[in-house]
This record gives sequence, C-alpha cells and structure tokens, in this order.
Amino acid sequence: MMELPLSHSPSSLLLISFSIFILCCLKLASATCHLDDESGLLGFRSGITEDPSGMLVSWKPGTDCCTWPGINCLFKDRVTSISLYGQPDKPNSFLSGRISPSLSKLRSLDGIYLQDLRNISGPFPNLLFGLPNLQFIYIQNSKLSGPIPDNIGKMTRLGSLSLAGNRFTGKIPSSISELTQLGQLNLGGNLLTGEIPDGIRRLKNLTLLNLERNQLSGGVPDFFSSFTDLRVLSLSHNKLSGKIPATISSLAPKLAYLELGHNALIGKIPDFLGTFKALDTLDLSWNRFSGVVPKSFGNLTKIFNLDLSNNFLVDPFPEMYVKGIESLDLSNNGFHLDVIPKWVTSSPIIYSLKLAGCGIKMKLDDWKPSQTYFYDYIDLSGNQVSGSPIELLNRTDYLVGFWASGNGLRFNMESLRIVKTLKDLDLSRNLVFGKVPQAISGLQKFNVSHNHLCGRIPATDFPASAFLGNDCLCGSPLAPCKVYK
Ligand SMILES: *[C@@H]1O[C@H](CO)[C@@H](O)[C@H](O)[C@H]1NC(C)=O
Ligand SMILES: *[C@@H]1O[C@H](CO)[C@@H](O)[C@H](O)[C@H]1NC(C)=O
Ligand SMILES: *[C@@H]1O[C@H](CO)[C@@H](O)[C@H](O)[C@H]1NC(C)=O
Ligand SMILES: *[C@@H]1O[C@H](CO)[C@@H](O)[C@H](O)[C@H]1NC(C)=O
Ligand SMILES: *[C@@H]1O[C@H](CO)[C@@H](O)[C@H](O)[C@H]1NC(C)=O
Repeated sequence: MMELPLSHSPSSLLLISFSIFILCCLKLASATCHLDDESGLLGFRSGITEDPSGMLVSWKPGTDCCTWPGINCLFKDRVTSISLYGQPDKPNSFLSGRISPSLSKLRSLDGIYLQDLRNISGPFPNLLFGLPNLQFIYIQNSKLSGPIPDNIGKMTRLGSLSLAGNRFTGKIPSSISELTQLGQLNLGGNLLTGEIPDGIRRLKNLTLLNLERNQLSGGVPDFFSSFTDLRVLSLSHNKLSGKIPATISSLAPKLAYLELGHNALIGKIPDFLGTFKALDTLDLSWNRFSGVVPKSFGNLTKIFNLDLSNNFLVDPFPEMYVKGIESLDLSNNGFHLDVIPKWVTSSPIIYSLKLAGCGIKMKLDDWKPSQTYFYDYIDLSGNQVSGSPIELLNRTDYLVGFWASGNGLRFNMESLRIVKTLKDLDLSRNLVFGKVPQAISGLQKFNVSHNHLCGRIPATDFPASAFLGNDCLCGSPLAPCKVYK
C-alpha cells in the first residue's frame, strides 16, 4: 500500500490558505488595467471582423488588459504598447477589419506594432495623431490604403515610422521633413509615386531609409551628407533615374546595405563605393550602369552580397579580396570572366552564384569549389561551359536551382543526381544525352529542350517546350513512343 504523506498540522493548513488568499487578492488588486485602456482595446477588437487564429480571443472585458497577448503596460495600469504579429507561414494567421479610432483612448501608448496581419484595411489611422506619447509606428504588411496624410509631419515625436507593405498611394508628403527625430523611415512596398522629397535631408538621425518597391521617379536626391548614422538605404524597385549622387560617399563609414536595384540609373559605378568599409550588401542590379567596376571594389573585403547583374558593365572585373562572399550575381553584363573567379571558388559560405552570360569558358569538371554544402543556387546559363555537372551536383546536397542552358555540357543525364531539395533545373541547349530520369518528376521547373536525349519521358506536368529539340524523346507531352515487340 502507498504511504500517505505526512498530514499537515492545522496551523500549516492555515498558513497555506492564507497564502492562497494573498496570492488571489494581490492578483485581483492588480487585475484592473485603466478603464480607458480596456475600453480602447475592446473597441479595437470590435473593429476586427475576422481573427481565424484567435489572436484576440483572450481579450476579455473585466480581465487585466495588461496581461492580454500583445499588450504591454510599462507604467502601472497604462498600456504603453500594442504588438500583434501575424505569422507569415501560417495561412490562418491574419486579422481582417479596420483600426478602430477607439485606440485613441490609450493615452500612454508609445508604440504600435501591427506586423504581418495582412488584411487590416482602411485609410491611415488618423487616431494616431491624437496620441501624445506615440513614438514608434510599425504597421507593416497589411492593406491600408489611400494617401499618407499631408500633415504626417505633426507627429514630431516619432522615432520610427514604418508603413511598409501596404497600399498607400500618392506622394510622400513633404511635411515628412518635420519628423526630425526619426531613426527609421520605411515606406517600402506601397504604391507611392512622385519624387523623393528633398526635405528628407533634415532627418539627420536616420539609421534606416527604405523606400523600395514603390513607383517613385526622378533622381536620387543629392542629400546624403547629412546622414551620419545611416546604415540601411534601400531605394530598389522604383523608377529612379539619373546618376548615383556624389554625397552618397559620405555614408562610407557606416552604411551596411545599399540597394538601388531595379531602377533606371545610369552612369559609372562611382570609385568611392570601394571605401564603404562596413558594406555588407550592394545591389545595383537591373539599372543602366556602364563602364568598368572600379578597382577600388578590391577593398570591399567584407561584402557578403553583391548583385551587379543586368547592367552594361564591361571588363576588366576587378580583383576582389573578399574572404567569404555569400551571394554573387554578375549576370548579363558585358563581362568575359573566362573562369569562375578564385575568390568565389574559395568562399567558405557561398550559397548563391549567378554568372549567366559572363563569358565563362571552363570545363565544369575542373571547377573545385572549396565548399558546396551551402549552395542553393547556381546559374551558369549562356556561357561556354563544357564537361559535366555530375560531380558538382553530387556534392551539392541542398541545391534548389541549377541553371545552365546554352552551354556545351555533355554528359549522360541518367548519371545526374537529382537531390530532394532541387526545384528548378534548366539544361536546355546543351549536348546532354541518355534518358530523362524518373527523379525529375519531383521538380517544379525543368527544361532539357535542345539536347540529344532519347527514350520515354517519365510522367510529369512539364509542357512540351521543356522537351522539344532532342534526338528521340517520346511519350507525353511529345508524340507517343513507338511500340516494339
Ligand atoms: C480581408 O478583409 C476583407 C474586408 O475586410 C474581406 O472581405 C476578405 O474576405 C478578407 N480576406 C481574407 C483572406 O480573409
Ligand atoms: C538625434 O541625433 C542627435 C545628435 O546626434 C542626438 O543628440 C539625439 O539624441 C538623437 N535623437 C534620437 C531620438 O535619437
Ligand atoms: C584600398 O584602400 C587603401 C587604403 O585606404 C588604398 O591605399 C588603396 O588605394 C585602395 N585600393 C584600391 C584598389 O582602391
Ligand atoms: C557521388 O558521391 C558519392 C559519395 O559522396 C561517391 O561515392 C560517388 O562516387 C560520387 N559519384 C560521382 C559520379 O561523383
Ligand atoms: C525551355 O527552353 C527553351 C529554350 O531555352 C525555351 O524556348 C522554352 O520556352 C523553355 N520551356 C520551358 C517550359 O521552360
């Protein structure tokens, strides 16, 4: 039989019930967030029409709103921040509805963080103008629309303003120049038009300026000498034209991210970029830059991500001394590299290498990268690469994309290892022979057109154009195979 635990003396029982009483009532005593805050938050909740993942289910009247998920009270009973995050990888993790004006009751609110909620709609929440302590606005990745209010400059206390990933239209209001305390300004991923306001030059405390993925036009203002702390500058995916302005050079000591890709910028890549000691990521892709890449780039020893693809750059490409490049894209310029550069081959951390149309003439079997473990993407399309990728693909255990169309690769396709991670394989316009292996049915994209393949095509959904122009491939989606006895 089990032994019973020592029975408690009456006095210890008393002590226990007393402590339970204390615990309960202390809790009760604090279980009252300020009534205004409670009703402001309940008003916010009633503006939400759909909450399929139950982000707000435990926001219940009469319970301490300071304990509700997403709510923070730094000063006694007053709500200081509201932070609701959707999970991008979960389809159910969103909120629909509008931001209720009742949030204006949260008099001590200093930060509003509504991130990745995806389906919050309506105009810019004007109630934010009425919150005297508000410093941080992050309303990212939802469906707010309409203009950014002209008088946004009245929120002079703001330290951060991010409205990234919404559907704001119209111009960036010129009053933005009044927000001189801003450390971060992120209006990326909206539908903003017009020019970048020159008044942004007054925002001297900026560490991050992100206006990417809009429809901004005009030149990049030459106003960077005032930004002594800027670390991130992203103006990619707009319609900006003209040259890289000279004052960008004053960002040399601290700038880590410079992204100007997908615009219509012209001229030479300035020499001074080679002096950007902290530069980690440089994206100048899809512009109209011409001339040579400056020799000074040899001094970018800490650059991890370099994308100069799709410009009009020409030889000679400078000697680089970077220890470990992580991703490199030099595709579709006027380069004739002949071989894959040593500083790429020796990188211990490279995961993405894109050298399409770079005048590479090597035999692929001779390429011995010192590391293949991290490789996700390799693009050598449109070169004069010969030999076989069999050994390379045998060593890249996590490859996701391999593109090598328009080369002189000659190998038996049946010997090619198709790793489980591979999604996209393009070997079109080469000299590949043998049969198409069954393993390709797991790919999302595939192209072996214009080779010397033969035999029955395994069952897949790829269109005929993925198989055309071979010696004797047959079966769906091409003509049926002849049946032999
Ligand atoms: C997003 O919200 C709108 C209006 O609030 C609603 O009609 C729509 O069904 C919502 N979308 C999703 C995916 O829930
Ligand atoms: C802005 O910069 C000035 C000068 O560098 C500094 O004194 C001030 O504290 C900064 N303000 C904020 C909000 O960081
Ligand atoms: C690299 O930096 C050093 C020191 O700042 C400088 O002397 C040298 O000229 C630079 N190299 C190039 C190729 O610009
Ligand atoms: C592929 O790799 C395995 C082991 O890593 C090795 O045994 C095999 O010979 C390789 N095959 C080719 C074709 O390189
Ligand atoms: C396959 O490649 C050929 C030539 O490179 C191209 O014309 C065709 O559209 C491609 N088909 C698919 C499905 O990618």
